[in-house]
Amino acid sequence: MKALVLSGGAGTRLRPITHTSAKQLVPVANKPVLFYGLESIAAAGITDVGIIVGDTAEEIRAAVGDGSRFGLTVTYIPQHAPLGLAHAVLIAREFLGEDDFVMYLGDNFVVGGITDLVDEFRAARPDAQILLTKVPDPRSFGVAELDADGRVARLEEKPAHPKSDLALVGVYLFTPAVHEAVRAITPSARGELEITHALQWLIDRRLKVSSTVISGYWKDTGNVEDMLEVNRSVLELLTPGHEGSVDDATEIIGRVRIGRGATVRGSRIVGPAIIGPRTVVENSYIGPSTSIAENCRVTDSEIEYSIVLSGSSLHGVGRIEASLIGRDVEITPAPPTPAAHRLVLGDHSKVQISA
Ligand code: TTP
Repeated sequence: MKALVLSGGAGTRLRPITHTSAKQLVPVANKPVLFYGLESIAAAGITDVGIIVGDTAEEIRAAVGDGSRFGLTVTYIPQHAPLGLAHAVLIAREFLGEDDFVMYLGDNFVVGGITDLVDEFRAARPDAQILLTKVPDPRSFGVAELDADGRVARLEEKPAHPKSDLALVGVYLFTPAVHEAVRAITPSARGELEITHALQWLIDRRLKVSSTVISGYWKDTGNVEDMLEVNRSVLELLTPGHEGSVDDATEIIGRVRIGRGATVRGSRIVGPAIIGPRTVVENSYIGPSTSIAENCRVTDSEIEYSIVLSGSSLHGVGRIEASLIGRDVEITPAPPTPAAHRLVLGDHSKVQISA
């Protein structure tokens, strides 16, 4: 069995972060979200992995390399434009050959991994198997309707009037039967080859598409709110440890991991929180559910329920909450007069200023 990991795409919902970097590499508890997926593929006993890459190919290659550190052998498959999930299967035909495979969306996060699911598929071997989860508002997802036996009867992509609350999770299992389906379908109204259409094509030809409903935790980390929520949930399981230097004037409460070469002085850190290697925290408060990456500086500031990427600095800026801060960002206070905000923001930035 092989794996096909999708790490191309446009990432419009995570702009401006995705103007300069791949959304699959945004860190969760200071580790790229994609790495969690690769680890669960390896844990399921799959070693041969194809990674679909788009505009951010170089960055993904630099981060994942040949895959050996995950125990994987990685083949990169370039996709010239994000033409849909089924398009990714289409262009991976040569890599996939006649093997069964798991398709994993590189920005999705499945707590508990995929081992049970892969084992179940190997044992029953339907033509395809999808993973479903109940969501409060299914309108922005692929939605499945099941028949009395739990077989998938119908699939709809982002329906205005969903017929169930079962949304497709970003992990799919396929036999080579899918190849004919992805060749047969045509682009949808949004110009993409939809995997839901390929699955519906299989269902219409009476092939068996089974489903597993997971009640565990799953998130598409494509937007900031979900990213922060996944970060919170992963930090809950953090193994505490202090590899940096922490002075006596600092108070550390709960699960906190301080990376190698980090320095914390005169501060209060309330876990779960992670401070990356070589980061400096001084006279500051770091609150729960916060990940600060490597080589950052936080001085005279407060931050909680946030993710800060590498090389950024916060100096004397009061309290920051529920924020995703990119790489090498500088946040400083404005001079007292004039009482004005001074901003240099990239395209598609989003800022909320407390008046
Ligand atoms: P999506 O989140 O559905 O799409 P996107 O990356 O274009 O993001 P947005 O909606 O914010 O613009 O993609 C799911 C995953 O699949 C993600 O990791 C990107 C990847 N992908 C590809 O590799 N090729 C594709 O053609 C598409 C559509 C997505």
